[in-house]
Amino acid sequence: MPVARDLLHRAGADLNSGAEARTLLAHVLGTDLHGLLLADDVSGAEADAFAALVRRRLDGVPVQHLTGEAYFRTVRVEVGPGVFIPRPETEVMTGFALDRLAEVRAEGRPPVAVELCAGSGAISLAIATEAPDVELHCVELSEDAADYLRRNLAGTDVDIVVGDMAAAFTHLDGSVDVVVANPPYIPLDSYGEVPADVRDHDPALALFSGPDGLDAMAVVARVAARLLRPGGWVCAEHADVQGESAPAVFLATDAYDRVTDHVDLNHRPRFTAARRSAGKMEP
Ligand SMILES: C[S@@+](CC[C@H](N)C(=O)[O-])C[C@H]1O[C@@H](n2cnc3c(N)ncnc32)[C@H](O)[C@@H]1O
Repeated sequence: MPVARDLLHRAGADLNSGAEARTLLAHVLGTDLHGLLLADDVSGAEADAFAALVRRRLDGVPVQHLTGEAYFRTVRVEVGPGVFIPRPETEVMTGFALDRLAEVRAEGRPPVAVELCAGSGAISLAIATEAPDVELHCVELSEDAADYLRRNLAGTDVDIVVGDMAAAFTHLDGSVDVVVANPPYIPLDSYGEVPADVRDHDPALALFSGPDGLDAMAVVARVAARLLRPGGWVCAEHADVQGESAPAVFLATDAYDRVTDHVDLNHRPRFTAARRSAGKMEP
């Protein structure tokens, strides 16, 4: 009978990642990384299932598609073909949104937030879990992604809309405290430079947005200007090379009086934050 330790040793070398090998074997054995420490003998069927997953991983299938799940901040979400896999790069921005919502709470008001481009719902689920008093609304355009979104947010009070963010939540205009978004932001002509495992497994609608990658960002800036109350904040993720061009999109609307750019966990430029001014937006 195969021994877990030997299987892990071989697969870890093949994958060049002991962590991925452990995640996949834990998935096959129906346990977690702690449980895996106690695993000893593995049945022939389990060893075959593990070998099949390792082969698919070597073919470029993301680990998260093999296990069907991804972890983000404090939450676990279901993922698979048709939905963007949440990335750790987005965690700091979500923390920024939670900090702004905490300021609203500290003023004695119930916080209201909107997530644009919700995908699997990782950001919304983290907010709903870490700040359950927030009135939260989210919108996602893709029907395929929305299937995951509904499942991941089942059991929460989050209001889910499937449709274009451009027209979403007009009944909330001028009343929202925080808008958070991780829109698609890769330039269309950078298609060839995107790693194959991203291009082949994350949906194109989640990745690409116009010639400079900022078409969706411009929509986020305008929709947030419409939704936010004066003094409310928007934060939106961008590519690490857009640390100047993404803030410029917000400045161009004349709707914000503070626009700042922020880094992610790896200290790379990653999201723009902007505070809604009291003035009207340029038409
Ligand atoms: C980069 S993914 C982010 C998903 C999720 N928020 C996350 O951080 O993991 C961008 C998402 O925006 C969605 N999307 C693209 N254009 C949209 C639009 N006009 N309105 C609403 N959602 C849109 C895509 O389908 C995709 O799910």
